[in-house]
Amino acid sequence: MSNSQMVIVVAGAQGNLGKLVCEALLAQARLAGQAVLVRGLVRKGRSSAPTTASDTAEPQLVIEPVDYTSDDDLRRVCAGAYCVVSTLQGLEEVIVGVQSRLLKAAIAHNVRRFIPSDFSGDFTKLPVGSHRNFDLRRKFHQAADVIIQQAQTQIEFTSIFQGGFTELLGSGWVLFDYKKRQVAYFGSADAMMEYTTWQNTAEFTAAVALDPNPTPRYLYIAGQRMTPREAQRVAKQVTGVDFALKRVMPTWLLGGVIKLMKFFKPGQPDEVMPLWVAMQYGYCGALGLMSPARLDNERYSGIQWTGVNGVIRQAFDAAQAGRSPA
Ligand SMILES: NC(=O)c1ccc[n+]([C@@H]2O[C@H](COP(=O)([O-])OP(=O)(O)OC[C@H]3O[C@@H](n4cnc5c(N)ncnc54)[C@H](OP(=O)(O)O)[C@@H]3O)[C@@H](O)[C@H]2O)c1
Repeated sequence: MSNSQMVIVVAGAQGNLGKLVCEALLAQARLAGQAVLVRGLVRKGRSSAPTTASDTAEPQLVIEPVDYTSDDDLRRVCAGAYCVVSTLQGLEEVIVGVQSRLLKAAIAHNVRRFIPSDFSGDFTKLPVGSHRNFDLRRKFHQAADVIIQQAQTQIEFTSIFQGGFTELLGSGWVLFDYKKRQVAYFGSADAMMEYTTWQNTAEFTAAVALDPNPTPRYLYIAGQRMTPREAQRVAKQVTGVDFALKRVMPTWLLGGVIKLMKFFKPGQPDEVMPLWVAMQYGYCGALGLMSPARLDNERYSGIQWTGVNGVIRQAFDAAQAGRSPA
């Protein structure tokens, strides 16, 4: 590693988002002619993980097996880093436990910036209890405040809020029912929501990681924002057919259904996304508290923002042809 090389650590480098963030970091570094080394962390001992740091086909990417329970090991992989990006997924042990240890390791090495694995709508104004997984992320934010304060450090702690991943709109379960030709929503047809592709989210995250300027506590992006009522218009415009606007139930009733689901079908203790938690996304969206006042899309040049049309078109065509959504 040369002295001028910028080291970016990506925790969860073989996950859905982590892989894309690694690719985006390498692509942006190449384009800028910047010397960057991406240290992609994977869990030690997983069958897919290499047993030692492995050079990949890409010399600027090193996949590094790490023991997330070991402070020493975390300090080892954070040495010399400019930014640590977490794309980890999990429950309290990961989101609060592992991320707290990783933040402490980053601080021990004077890492400039830490990006937590938030990647959602802005959950900071939601009432506690609205969403189990968002509560865990807020618990980590509180823990991070204490860690940063106690260390008396200036590390930039920057969350990225991109709303829902646009690709979810092609599932047939989120907002659009392509078979029934319906836009199904909870609460109000005028609650604004943000949607961003995995790719755009990864590109923006990479740009934040490499940013030579100070980054703020929160950054907000969206490939497209729309309410359910606007989604109905978009669906018609993209497919040429009418979509009905269907209110599935009011927010208060959805809250009650989720409580029952949680009681009768709690899921496995280690399950990140049992059905009642998945339903909490709809509930939080319907509360209308997650939509940001500003967007930071223009902060970095070179990102081509993708809207929702392509996903809708593809999913509609698949439904027409009797195929399940991609
Ligand atoms: N807003 C949205 O619509 C939306 C949708 C999906 C995800 N997200 C968010 O995006 C972020 C990344 O999600 P993703 O789908 O990319 O995650 P993922 O692929 O499911 O998991 C990311 C990584 O987390 C690591 N991990 C899982 N359990 C762990 C444990 N017990 N201990 C240590 N590491 C563990 C795994 O690392 P190894 O590979 O090394 O085992 C995995 O590769 C998360 O914050 C997630 O909540 C948002």
